[in-house]
Amino acid sequence: MKMKWRDGLFSAAGLLVFCAFCAAGATMASDVLVGACIYKFDDTFMKGVRRNMVSEMKKLGGELEVADSQNQQPVQDGQVGAFINKGAKALIVNLVNPVDRAVAASLLEKARAANLPIVFLNREPDAEVMKSYDKACYVGTHAEESGRLLGELIVDYFKGHPEADRNGDGKIQYVMLRGGEGQQDAILRTEFSVKAMKDGGFEVEELASETANWDKAQGAERMKGFIASVGLDRIEAVVANNDSMALGAIAALKAEGYNLGDAAKYIPVVGVDATAPALEAMGQGTLLGTVLNDARSQGAAAVRAAFAAAQGRAIDKETVGYEVTDGKYIWIPYMKVTTENFKRLM
Ligand code: GAL
Ligand code: CA
Repeated sequence: MKMKWRDGLFSAAGLLVFCAFCAAGATMASDVLVGACIYKFDDTFMKGVRRNMVSEMKKLGGELEVADSQNQQPVQDGQVGAFINKGAKALIVNLVNPVDRAVAASLLEKARAANLPIVFLNREPDAEVMKSYDKACYVGTHAEESGRLLGELIVDYFKGHPEADRNGDGKIQYVMLRGGEGQQDAILRTEFSVKAMKDGGFEVEELASETANWDKAQGAERMKGFIASVGLDRIEAVVANNDSMALGAIAALKAEGYNLGDAAKYIPVVGVDATAPALEAMGQGTLLGTVLNDARSQGAAAVRAAFAAAQGRAIDKETVGYEVTDGKYIWIPYMKVTTENFKRLM
């Protein structure tokens, strides 16, 4: 398109304003290095978050370095120190250990000593720790919401399929696959999924519950264990704290001839995340439903918050694109994913 003189005038004026902005001490986009640590790269959901972080930073024009903390807190501590030493202007941390409040506190002290903003992501630090530093913020979700939606998926199914109550006792006999021990996401998804089944008008009986650390292979192992200990014919539902573990459970069910298309040999399995393999499994009818854990919004919000703060700008709706609560919390909503809407996410 041909440029009019007026446009030229505007861009010249824009350049002037921009230069004044730089002279006032603001950091240019290309000078912003954000250092990020992900608790481990080998986590299907966090892979999606990371991909979105990278693409968001490309749009913003800054530099993002992402480190794999390999599920080891000392490795992560070292990475944060290294980012500070190499001149990062903001930090993003997906904690390896969100359970011990001292861990987040010590990383926050490192950021404070260097006067750097620190954005915690996906694994929420203790509220008191968060309060102690005005340059700390958190991007994540309300886990109880995902728990509620997870339980509702089972309720909706049982309401529409009376035969799902296989022993006809009016109760839902379920097994639970839990995420990382002691982690908020795992505790709340477990608690609130059970509460949602009860709120939905069902009595429930927990046949077994084990942690499988958000992991597919461990999910398959635990499910095999459940099949051996409680018996396949007694299990009426599998509730998993995330999709990876749900898909592990489905692999174990398939090995027993279940969830392969025969209606008489089907056990509803639900998870959280709406990862690509989970949506595929919904298409195949092996996974009943999931809950969208919005990797795109979480990745984008974390990078935008870090980028804005690195340039000395406020973390608010304007800079981040999402509502900011108490000046430091960015909550990304969940969404129920069913056979009606899952294709839209693929
Ligand atoms: C959850 C997610 C899980 C796993 C976990 C790691 O939000 O649903 O799949 O990534 O975070 O803490
Ligand atoms: Ca029953």
